[in-house]
Amino acid sequence: MTEAPQPKPGILEIAPYVGGKSSIAGVAEPMKLSSNENALGAGEKAREAYAAAIRNIHVYPDGRANKLRAAVAEKHGLEPERLIFGNGSDEVFALLNQTYLTAGDNIVCGQYGFLAYRISALGCEAQVKLAPEPGYKAEVDALLAQVDERTRIVYVSNPSNPTGSYNTGEEIRRLHEGLPANVILVIDEAYAEFVTETDWETAFPLARDASNIVVTRTFSKIHGLGGLRIGFGYAPLAICEAIDRIRLPFNVSVAGLDTAVAALADEAHQTASRDLVLQWRPRLTQAIRGFGFEVLPSVGNFVLVLFPETGRTASAANDYLNAKGIIVRQVGGYGLPQGLRITIGTEDQNRAVIDALSEFAAS
Ligand SMILES: Cc1ncc(COP(=O)(O)O)c(C=O)c1O
Repeated sequence: MTEAPQPKPGILEIAPYVGGKSSIAGVAEPMKLSSNENALGAGEKAREAYAAAIRNIHVYPDGRANKLRAAVAEKHGLEPERLIFGNGSDEVFALLNQTYLTAGDNIVCGQYGFLAYRISALGCEAQVKLAPEPGYKAEVDALLAQVDERTRIVYVSNPSNPTGSYNTGEEIRRLHEGLPANVILVIDEAYAEFVTETDWETAFPLARDASNIVVTRTFSKIHGLGGLRIGFGYAPLAICEAIDRIRLPFNVSVAGLDTAVAALADEAHQTASRDLVLQWRPRLTQAIRGFGFEVLPSVGNFVLVLFPETGRTASAANDYLNAKGIIVRQVGGYGLPQGLRITIGTEDQNRAVIDALSEFAAS
C-alpha cells in the first residue's frame, strides 16, 4: 500500500478557522480588539485562584467539575446534574454535534451564525443549512423553513456574533414551538451579561421544562478567562448523559476549574466589565456613525462596522487601524467582507479607535 492516509470525506473542504489576529509586525504592544475578550482582563480573585492552583497541577482535575457545577447551579438557579462543562463553550457545541450528527444529517443556523457550530458539524460529515439574515439578525421563520427530516440541531447565538443583534424571548419561544421534538435547539448566550434590552430573556427558564433545549454560557467574555477555556451547557438530563459517554474525562483543567469558581463569585469584576461595555458601546457607535460609516446596533461587547464596497473599504480601514497599532477583526469568513468587528476596549483603546477612524474617514 503506497497511498497516503486520507481524512474522512469533506474534511479538507472545511475552511480553516482564522482566529482574531494578535500581532502586527513592528508593533511591540498592539491594541488587540479582535476577539471580544474582556478589556479589563481577569479579575483579581480569579488571578489569585489561578496562582494558587499551581499547588495542584500534578493532580488530574475533577472530571465531574463538582465545585464549579455547584457554583454555576447556585448562581443561575439550575439543577447541577443538568450541566455539561467544556473546554470553552466551543467544546460543548462540538460534543453536541458528535453525539447527535451522523453523515447526511444537518444543522441549521443563521447566515452569519458563529463559525464554531459549523466546523465541527462538517467534521461529523453533516451538512450546514444557513437561513438568510437580511436584517443581520436571525429570523424565526427563515430558520424554521430550513428544518427538514435530517435536521438534528438548530443553533442560535443570542446575542449574535459577529452582528451584535439579538432575538427577543418571544421569538425564541416561537422558534422552539415551531421545531419538531427530536430537533435540539441550542441557544448560545456567550454575551448574555452585556444585554440591557428588556425584551431579551435568558432561555434558562424555557430550557428547564423542555426536552430539546440546550443553553450555553462561557467564562471567556464577562469573566475574562478566554485563555483558560471554560464554558458550559444547561441541557435535559438525557442529553447530558449521552454527551458524557464521549466527553473526554478530564476536559477542563485544574487551573480552569479553580479560577472559574473564583471568577463566578467576583461580582465586582463582572459589574466593572459590564459597565465599561455599557458606557463605551453607545459612544463608540455614535462616534463611528458620525464619520459616515454604518454601525449595526449591538448588544454584545463589540460592534460591527460596515464600510463602503469601494473607496474607504473595510480592508483599507483594517490596514489603517493596523498602522496605528490597533487590531480588529475582518469578518469575510462570515460572508461580511464589508465589515470590521471591533471589541469594546478600555477608555484609551476606544479613544484610539475613534481617533484612527476619524482620520481614516478624512483621509
Ligand atoms: C457567539 C459565541 N459563542 C461562543 C463563543 C466561544 O466561547 P468559548 O471561548 O467559551 O469557546 C464565542 C467566542 O467568541 C462566541 O462569539
